[in-house]
Amino acid sequence: MEVFILMKTNTFEAQIGTSLELACSFLYSNLPIGIPTETVYGLAANAYEPMAVARIFEIKNRPTFDPLIVHTYSIEALSEFTKAIHPKAMLLAERFWPGPLTLLLPKNHKIPDLVTSGLPNVGVRIPAHPVTLDLLRSLPFPLAAPSANPFGYISPTTATHVKDQLSDKIPYILEGGKCTIGVESTIVGFDEYLKPTIFRLGGISIEEIEAVIGKVEIKPFSSSNPHAPGMLKSHYAPRTPFFIVQRQSFYFSDALNAVGTLCFREPFPNIPKAFQKVLSTKGCLKEAAHNLFCAMRELDSLGLEAIFCELVPDVGLGKAINDRLKRAAAK
Ligand code: TXA
Ligand code: MG
Repeated sequence: MEVFILMKTNTFEAQIGTSLELACSFLYSNLPIGIPTETVYGLAANAYEPMAVARIFEIKNRPTFDPLIVHTYSIEALSEFTKAIHPKAMLLAERFWPGPLTLLLPKNHKIPDLVTSGLPNVGVRIPAHPVTLDLLRSLPFPLAAPSANPFGYISPTTATHVKDQLSDKIPYILEGGKCTIGVESTIVGFDEYLKPTIFRLGGISIEEIEAVIGKVEIKPFSSSNPHAPGMLKSHYAPRTPFFIVQRQSFYFSDALNAVGTLCFREPFPNIPKAFQKVLSTKGCLKEAAHNLFCAMRELDSLGLEAIFCELVPDVGLGKAINDRLKRAAAK
């Protein structure tokens, strides 16, 4: 039998496991846990319970002006905590859920203001991960879940990533393997004229969204944008100084010996291979997204003086990858 000890100091030693029963029991006790999704791992708690939601902000050290996404298991289940759903939102929901799409929809009183940072809309998503869908189906409440990383750091794409950073703060992480998509969901909302707008580039490309609902506005860089207050320019950042360079003009000085690179298809010349991560030798953007955060973490753990990265082709999923790289490099 597994034993969980809540120490006097209110700290834990997180266990990684596959028990939905245990996961539920912690969630019923308002203790946030790690959950897998196809995008990144989430730090989940009862979205209806302000005490549980407050714990998420505390664990992540996240400012309360940065709202949380609420996860549920079906479009029908949505109506318990949202008001009307815009017809274009419905088209997107039917096309992309379960999947890496978050819709901003008007909330009802069941969602505490803390979840949405006081905004009238709540971000909602049905994740495409069998373990988490089973968990959501077995709970009488939806789960508020931001990415399970300390605020500002790289999002986790394995259960071990979550454990590495939050082990003493949460009791349990549901094992769900490496996230298949590897970057966060695309966030779509509607402005006061009901014009659809993408607030965060993510696992579903602009082209895929526009194929379903026509032209959309793109407003991803929005640290001052009240509709997506969490999209701060500097984000997803490794601790090691991180720079974007152009391969053609990158000159590697011998004076620097402890530098690493994050490359798209092939390593840079003159730098030890051990300090270089290639995202996709085939040049596949899907594979590059899948490997992105893992590669950033591994480079960050090497104790390098600097990490240099190149942007990937700025099409499809490449736009979301480049968005993360630019935020990681932003000061
Ligand atoms: O793929 C994902 O979306 C992952 C997985 C766990 O579902 N979640 C995720 O959550 O990336 P998080 O908290 O790291 O990023 C959510 C961002 C916020 O920073 C904010 O910009 C935006 O979503 N957001 C959430 N609710 C919002 C709202 N009501 N209005 C505007 N923006 C919102
Ligand atoms: Mg996040």
